[in-house]
Amino acid sequence: MTRQEPRQGSDALRGGWLIKRREFVYPGSFDPLTKGHVNVVSRAAQLCDILHVVILTNPSKKPAFTVEQRMEMAKLCLSKWDNIRVDSYQGLLVDYMREKSIHVVVRGLRSESDFRFETEMAATNALMYPEYETILLPSKTDYSFTSSSMVREVASYGGDISKMVPPEILPMVEERFKQSEQ
Ligand code: PNS
Repeated sequence: MTRQEPRQGSDALRGGWLIKRREFVYPGSFDPLTKGHVNVVSRAAQLCDILHVVILTNPSKKPAFTVEQRMEMAKLCLSKWDNIRVDSYQGLLVDYMREKSIHVVVRGLRSESDFRFETEMAATNALMYPEYETILLPSKTDYSFTSSSMVREVASYGGDISKMVPPEILPMVEERFKQSEQ
């Protein structure tokens, strides 16, 4: 507890004391959101007061869904948790975090190859933003091999993606790939 100015809509004043809320960012391309992402969100949301699910651009991937569609899908799937905020940002993750005064990022970890990428990302971001900290949550075994790129590939061949995609957005994802088949 510290005596400070509260940030708008973020910290809480109780009896003159500022109670700092623990806020984490869960960043990703979420193109589209998968059941694996939802599982990470459900666990990360219990570790903090507010979890910001932030849709960013991964320059090495060409998105299948617009940022607006990805925001809509995230909101549809994540509205049952009242401590989750869905947001998007064009730019560096660390700039978003600096703007919001948030230091902690949560990422899901499926495999050894994820570990390599995640440690590179953590180290690079920490060079730009020394307060940057990463929490890696190992994925539930059911979702160890679920990824947005697998969803896109299976869906583009008209395959069954129902075990990988949350039911709330299944029709939207199927529809998107039906269009590209035509
Ligand atoms: O879901 P993804 O594609 O693994 O997420 C990667 C993402 C979007 C979090 C990462 O590419 C990112 O942070 N993009 C924003 C630009 C940035 O900050 N790049 C430098 C750190 S890797």
